[in-house]
Parts: sequence; structure tokens; C-alpha cells
Amino acid sequence: MSRNLNDLFGLDGRVALVTGASRGIGAAIAQGLAMAGAKTYGVGRSAVPDGTLGSVIYRRCDIRDDVAIQSLLDDIHSAEGRLDILVNAAGITLPSKVSENPSEAFRETLANNLTAIYECCRLAAAGMKVGGSIINVTSIGSLLGFPGNPGYVAAKGGLAAMTRALAMDLGSSRIRVNNLVPGYVHTAMTAASYDDPARREARQARTILGRWGVAEDLVGAAIFLASDASSYVTGTDVVVDGGWTTKGL
Ligand SMILES: NC(=O)c1ccc[n+]([C@@H]2O[C@H](COP(=O)([O-])OP(=O)(O)OC[C@H]3O[C@@H](n4cnc5c(N)ncnc54)[C@H](OP(=O)(O)O)[C@@H]3O)[C@@H](O)[C@H]2O)c1
Repeated sequence: MSRNLNDLFGLDGRVALVTGASRGIGAAIAQGLAMAGAKTYGVGRSAVPDGTLGSVIYRRCDIRDDVAIQSLLDDIHSAEGRLDILVNAAGITLPSKVSENPSEAFRETLANNLTAIYECCRLAAAGMKVGGSIINVTSIGSLLGFPGNPGYVAAKGGLAAMTRALAMDLGSSRIRVNNLVPGYVHTAMTAASYDDPARREARQARTILGRWGVAEDLVGAAIFLASDASSYVTGTDVVVDGGWTTKGL
């Protein structure tokens, strides 16, 4: 039985790596894990001005480059002697309808949003010990049909399924693997629909709570999945969508 809240949710002494940490949801989660006590590393391809991410140690790295990811993991193990938490928040969207024959967009999205994440999971899990936690940021697109972006929906659906498969394979090592499932969140990725009043209102109306999410809305659930508070939770979805997937009328 935990003696206090910090035993349950605190991440003191843990080491975390967050991909997609240069902005948006990944940046908010990286800062949240650091706030909860984890020594936190973040990666993205963009340069981020010093201090933007608080105490998060940020390194430029493309998750599609598995040699660079392995080198980063080696550096983390040399410096910290461990890795406890991996959050896969890196993702792209290349909207394009199937009628436009966007094979390249489809392949590119799967390579970035699914295959590269498998490699990150595989390489990181090899160095994790009992109690490790992998959090894959999927989407309500992994649960529902959305138009105009078959590659994104396929990649997120595949990622959600991969999470369940990895939870099975890594469970005997007591490494947990879960999906963190955002609804519509106002970030650079969704700026085009947020900036269009009709599309913004349509998406807001789909939620029970009557608003878009902000990146910080994902932080509490990420800390839960990273911490001992979720020590009996694996292979499942934690949905943070303002009620989008529950709402009927
Ligand atoms: N916003 C939403 O409504 C929403 C809803 C559901 C799910 N999601 C998912 O949540 C995650 C974060 O999305 P967001 O809204 O925060 O989007 P965002 O603001 O566009 O951020 C995406 C992040 O992923 C990084 N990234 C993409 N490809 C990368 C690569 N190959 N290597 C390294 N970093 C890479 C980007 O960094 P660089 O550009 O610097 O490389 C950036 O940090 C994504 O997986 C997205 O699919 C978002």
C-alpha cells in the first residue's frame, strides 16, 4: 500500500525519453514528467531555443534514423544508467484523399507514425528493467473513421494494435505498454482546422465538454501511465478526448 501521493504518482529517480518533444503534446508531456520528478530527455527534428522546455534535456534527432536513436539511448544509459519511461509522441499528418492517389503520403505516414515507433519501442525496451512504461500517443482516429487521411488513420490504428502486441511480449519483463488517445487538441498539427471557424466549431460540438483540448490536458494521464499509479494497467487505451468517443447525440 502506497504511503502517500508521491509514492503513487511521483517519478523521482526515473529516467524518461519523450519523442516529439519540440512542441505540442510531446513538449507538454516532457515538461509534465520532469515536473513529476523524472530526469527527462526529449527529441524532435527542430531546433528548440535553450530554456523553452524547462529542465528537459532536448536533442535533435529523427526517429526514422534508428542509428541516431540507438546512439541517443546509449548516451542516456551512459549518463543515467537506466531508462524507465518512453513516450512516443512524435507524429506527422499528411492529409490526402484516397481519390487523389496519395501513395507516397500513405507510405510516408506509416513510416513515420508506425514503423519508426516500433523501432523506438524495440530499441528502448531492450534497455528497460522491471517497472518500465511505454506510452504510445495514438488518436481517436485509431478508434473511429475519419475522412481525408487514410495513412494517418491506418498508422494510428496499427499503433494501437502494436501496443497490445508489445504489452503481451514485454509483460513477462514487467514492462507495461499503453496507448494515450487524444481527441482534438489545439497544436500546430491541427492549426488549419482550428483557425477555420466552421471546422473549429464542428469539432468542438462533437465533444461532451464543449471545447477543444490543449496539450496540457494530456499531462495528467501521461504521468498516471508513467508512474506506479498504473502498475496494473497494460495493453489498453487511456482516452483523453473531452468525451468525443462517448457522445451520442
Ligand atoms: N493535436 C491533435 O489534435 C492530436 C490528436 C490525436 C493525436 N495526436 C498525436 O499527438 C502527437 C503529437 O501531436 P501534436 O498535435 O503535438 O503535433 P505537432 O505540434 O505537430 O508536434 C509533432 C511533434 O512530432 C515531432 N516529430 C514528427 N516526426 C518526427 C520525426 N521523424 N522525428 C522526430 N520528431 C518528429 C515534431 O518535431 P519536429 O517537427 O521538430 O521533428 C513535433 O515535436 C502526434 O503523434 C499526433 O499524431 C494529436
